[in-house]
Parts: sequence; structure tokens; C-alpha cells
Amino acid sequence: MRFITVKNYEEMSKKAAIIIAAEVLKKEDCVLGLATGSTPVGTYSRLAEMCDAGEIDFSKTRSVNLDEYVGLDVENDQSYRKFMNVNFFNKINIDINNTNVPNGCAEDLNKECERYDALIESMGGVDIQLLGIGVDGHIGFNEPDSEFVMGTHHVTLDESTIQANARFFDSENDVPRSALTMGMKAIMNAKQILMIANGKGKKDILMKALYGPVTPEVPASILQLHPNVTVIYSEE
Ligand code: PGA
Repeated sequence: MRFITVKNYEEMSKKAAIIIAAEVLKKEDCVLGLATGSTPVGTYSRLAEMCDAGEIDFSKTRSVNLDEYVGLDVENDQSYRKFMNVNFFNKINIDINNTNVPNGCAEDLNKECERYDALIESMGGVDIQLLGIGVDGHIGFNEPDSEFVMGTHHVTLDESTIQANARFFDSENDVPRSALTMGMKAIMNAKQILMIANGKGKKDILMKALYGPVTPEVPASILQLHPNVTVIYSEE
């Protein structure tokens, strides 16, 4: 594992963008595994700037996102599909038909999970997976549990996740209580993992995940078993 400490959010975003851009340059039809939340916003902005400057071309790139709230569709400002369109896809030259986010409004959520896993497999898996980390150690919405869940699944969100994400909603009551998330199999099968984290509030859980015991109670700890992980951390 490579652990890179940087001085601020800007530097974290710049470094992460360069690593992702390198993947796109190397393989134009690569599969990007993408994440939402406040951490990757700067990374997406830097990538959009590189695309604008003609330095990278996303026209053949494909993407799969980690997760989506159950019950929120693209029209909802807080849905992860909307987040991705606004913060990234609409700013680059990716074909929107090549971008994928689980459908949290599917009539049959279990079928949607199966469809998503089959889709990732049909794409040949993820080339580089971008991850944030939750204050409870979650990656995607893989919450602390008694076992690592392998496939895409419907998950009840932890109270700490609901509280942490309430800042994006009018009130805590508006935060959906469940979500669909990619499971550990697709994440661990990614050829490369890029985790980004910033702020003192993430330091303890990050250290626990990367250097503590590997346990489903700290979902991100599974990354210790992956052969190609880069973590970029900014304390600011
Ligand atoms: P954040 O979320 O980027 O908004 O801190 C990270 C996560 O929950 O994975």
C-alpha cells in the first residue's frame, strides 16, 4: 500500500486526478469506479479542467458508481446520479450512456443488485476504484457488519452515516434510511484502488482501517488485502 500525506484538500484532489487521468490515458475505454460525497468533488473538478484543456479524453471511458440512495431518482438533487451528472459527467466528454449508477428506484431492488453485479462483470471489472471513507469505516455504503458482503446489496444505513450525510439535506429526517451499494467483491476485484480522505475527523478511522485488524466491523480494513492500493490523506 502506498500512503501519501499531502498538505491540503487541493493537493489531495490534484494528486488523485493525476492518478485517474493516467489510467484514462493508458486505456481509453477503462472502467472507472466512482464515488460520491464531499471528498471527491475537487478531484472531479481537476479532471474536468484537464479534459477542458484537451489533456484527457473521456469519450470512450466507462464508469460504475459505488452506490445510490433507495428512493431518490435523477430529479432529486441529493441522488448520487444527480451528484455525478452535476459534479463530473456534465463537465467532461464522457458518453452519459457509458456511465452507471445503481437504480435506487427500481421496482425490485434485489433484481437491480443482480443486474448491477452482472453489468460490472460484463464490463470486465473496474480498472481503478476511487473511494472515500465514512466516519464509521464504510466504503461505498458497506456499513460495519458481522461479515463482509460480497455482492451489490440493499443496506440499512448506520445512524452515524445518516448524521454525517444530513448536512446535504434540509433535515436529518429527509436522509434516506437505506441504499444500494456495490459489495466487496467488485471493489476488491478492481485492479487498482485509490482512496482519498481529508480532515482530522477521518484520521482515526483511516489509521484503524489501514493498520488495525481486518474486520467487517471496519469495512475499509479489507483493503489491507488488496495488492494495489494508494491512499492520499490531507489532514486539513
Ligand atoms: P465524504 O463521505 O466524502 O462526504 O466525507 C465519504 C464517505 O462516506 O465515503
